[in-house]
This record gives sequence, C-alpha cells and structure tokens, in this order.
Amino acid sequence: MKKLFIKTHGCQMNFYDSEKMVDLLKPHGYQLNNNVEDSDIIVLNTCHIREKAVEKTYSELGRIRDKIALRKEKTGKDSIVAVAGCVAQAQGKEIMRRSPWVDIVVGPQSFQNLPELIAKVDPIKKNKHVDINFPVIPKFDQLNHEVHDRGPSAFLTIQEGCDKFCTFCVVPYTRGAEYSRPVKSIIDEAKKLIDAGVKEITLLGQNVNAWNANGPNKKKWGLGRLIAELAKIKDLEFIRYTTSHPLDMDLDLIEAHRDIEKLMPYLHLPLQSGSDNILKLMNRKHTTKQYLKVIEKVRHYKPDIAISGDFIIGFPGESSRDHESTINVINEVQYSQAYSFKYSIRPGTPAGIYYNHVDEKVKSSRLQEVQEILREQQMRFNKNSIGSTLKVLVLKHGKKNGQYLGRSPFNQSIYFNSEELNLIGSTVDIDVTEAFQNSLTGKMKINKCT
Ligand code: SAH
Ligand code: SF4
Ligand code: F3S
Repeated sequence: MKKLFIKTHGCQMNFYDSEKMVDLLKPHGYQLNNNVEDSDIIVLNTCHIREKAVEKTYSELGRIRDKIALRKEKTGKDSIVAVAGCVAQAQGKEIMRRSPWVDIVVGPQSFQNLPELIAKVDPIKKNKHVDINFPVIPKFDQLNHEVHDRGPSAFLTIQEGCDKFCTFCVVPYTRGAEYSRPVKSIIDEAKKLIDAGVKEITLLGQNVNAWNANGPNKKKWGLGRLIAELAKIKDLEFIRYTTSHPLDMDLDLIEAHRDIEKLMPYLHLPLQSGSDNILKLMNRKHTTKQYLKVIEKVRHYKPDIAISGDFIIGFPGESSRDHESTINVINEVQYSQAYSFKYSIRPGTPAGIYYNHVDEKVKSSRLQEVQEILREQQMRFNKNSIGSTLKVLVLKHGKKNGQYLGRSPFNQSIYFNSEELNLIGSTVDIDVTEAFQNSLTGKMKINKCT
C-alpha cells in the first residue's frame, strides 16, 4: 500500500471532496495516512474565500517542502505534492511558480483525474501537471466508488457552483456554474454511506436549497422533496443541509421542517449585512425585510428551529449606520450561533475594485462588537437547553476517560460520560445539565434509543 496524506482547508464541500479523493485513490493502492513525513502523496485541498485562507496554503506548502526534503534525505524516497481545491482553481500554474516543489495542481471540478495525473508524475524529470478544467461530464458521474469508513456522520454534495455572483465572492469563479446532481446519483451514494455505518447525512451545496432536478416521473423536485425521499432510507436517522440562500427557501423545504422528523431543526441562512444599501452593493438580490420574512415563516412552521448565519463586516462603503442596521437585525433574529468575518478583498471580484474600503481598525472594532453579541446569543441559546432532554447522535470519544461527544438536533456539541464501550454511532437521550459557550454537558438516560 502507498500512503496518502490529505490536509483540507475551507468549507464542508472541500472536506467532502477530500473524502471522495480517498475513495478515488483507494483502488489505486493508496491508504490514508496521518503524517506528511512518510507519505508518498500529499494533497493540500485549499480555500480561496478570504485572503488569510490563501496565505495558509502557501505557509502550509512551505512546511510540506521541509518535510519531504527530510524524507528524501533519510530514505531516498520522493513524495508527490498535489494542490487541489479553490486556490488551485484560481491560481493554476502560479502555485508552481511560487512553490516549485508542487507536482500537481488540480481544481475542484477535475480532481477525479487525480489517479492519471499521479501516474504521469516523473520525479526525475520533475514534470508538472495542471488540470483546472471544468469538464463536460460532471465529476460525480466518475466518482461512484465504494465509500470508505466515514464514522456516524457524513457529508454528501448534491449541488455545486453558483450563478448568483455576490460582488465579494470567489465561489462562482472557483467552483463554476450552478449544477444540481441527479436524484439517482444522490440516493445511490446516500445508501452506500448508510451501508458503511453512517447515521447522519449533511447535504451540501454552495446554495444547497437551489438544488433542483427531475424526479422519477420527470416532475421537478426541489430540496424539500429530495429530503422526503432520503428520509425513506431506513437506517438514515438524521438529515441536515447547508448552506442555504434566503431567495431559495421555498415552502416545500420549510414544510419539510414541520413534517419530516429526520430533518434536524437547524437552518444556516447567511444574511451578510443587515443594511439594504450594503445588500444591494453586495448584489444579494434581497432586502433585510425579505430575509426576516423567511425567518418568520420558518419559525411559524418549526417554532423551535435553531437559526445560524454568516455576516461580512466592513464591506466597502459600510457606514456606522449600516453597521448599526446589522446589529439591529442580529438582535431581532436571535441566532443560536453564527459566523462573522471581516470583509476580505478578493482579486477578480467586483467589490475588489470598489474605491471606498473601510479602514482595517474600524473593521476590527465592528467585528468585535458583532461577535460579542453573537456570543451572547449563542450562550443564551445553549443555556435554554438546560433541563431539556435531547436526542443525540454519538460521534466520538471525548478527551477524558469515559467521555463521549455527540451532536444535538440543534447542532450543539454535547459531552456526556458513560461506562458503555461501544456507543459511537448510537442515538442516546441526554438530559442537559450545563451550558457553555460552544458546548453542552449532560447525563445519559439509561434507556438507549438504538
Ligand atoms: N453560498 C453561501 C456562502 C458561501 S461562502 C451564501 O450565499 O450565503 C461562505 C461565507 O464566507 C459567506 O457566507 C460569507 O459570509 C463569507 N465570505 C465570502 N466571501 C468573503 C469575502 N470576500 N470576505 C469575507 N467573507 C467572505
Ligand atoms: Fe458566493 Fe453569493 Fe454564490 Fe454564496 S450566493 S456562493 S456568497 S456568490
Ligand atoms: Fe473556500 Fe472554495 Fe469552499 S473558496 S469556502 S473551499 S467553495
């Protein structure tokens, strides 16, 4: 067996792609390994969303260079270095100019070609290979391999790319046009995952709720209908999806939250800014009022649903009044948890050439203010769980002896202790006793559900 090391940055879709790379390379004799030092191939799956993410790629590549040089010195063996993901797509050959020890650059739409690209690398000739094409045949058609062990929870990409062109965002350029995977291919993969022991599937897409495809009788299906179909798979117990766009939140999907027990009460719905002026400059194509209406409707059908979101702080032209508006909306929604980022200029995006960029210090202080409010909301949400009994999927062992880590329906991490040895993958009832900023603790009820 040859050894494969993969390091992944970025969103869940990148993590899914990395899992697929493992599945893809397994029949070619590669086995997953957890260190660079004695691996035959090193894949760095990268993210281009913010400048910092890109810097991470290059510093990581520097560390990899040192480790493969050491391996060569000690054992005489060459290692292959491949850069995949969105930096690969955006920068192509430039990566090899800056980091000449890289052998392969492969984009998110062409990594299914990795086995051939690896076979072509000749360490003596030091030849390089770049494949950042957007293929005509969707990559999923070529990625229908057996799945390796994923543990109790797995990602499943059902939609990729984006046609929305928000002015700050690189995704339409790195992942390409919006594409919805056909129903059969999704169901087949879901069944494979379940056969491999998975209990929870998180459906992924840059705009997952924009997914649509023909159902078996040629009727158009949206995400709500797809979830209903997946819910029929017997041993699939928990269904989640992310990330959603406010404009694609249709009634079918909202009703699914009321009607489908396996669909978890959690919705990640980014707003980006609470100011309509900024939303317009971002080309988000909706107002705050429309966003709040969606939240209201979702809560009408599923009152206890946990709402999460994303915010970009300090977008070009953001005034203190715009910032206040963002805070007001955050206070109105009351998030269970949300992500916030300082606006980061992305080359090639329209907002990159806007002239009125916000001062870094102002961005930082606004970000701090927003994060403080979001932290308080998260703490409040977590505290509200104390005294309730939650149905928890056990994901892995905790750091302490006898401790387990699971996930609550509302996407909270929850720790509990048990003498039982084999709880991973089971569903247990947990009485929540304590709440912290990022987790809960609780006691397991004696009667295990499964
Ligand atoms: N498709 C999703 C988000 C995908 S990108 C949506 O439309 O909401 C994930 C998150 O990264 C975004 O929600 C946004 O908050 C953040 N992001 C994207 N581009 C950014 C940039 N240039 N600077 C800072 N944050 C950014
Ligand atoms: Fe980026 Fe906007 Fe598309 Fe989301 S909807 S992926 S933020 S362009
Ligand atoms: Fe990053 Fe690409 Fe995902 S830019 S956030 S890895 S789609």
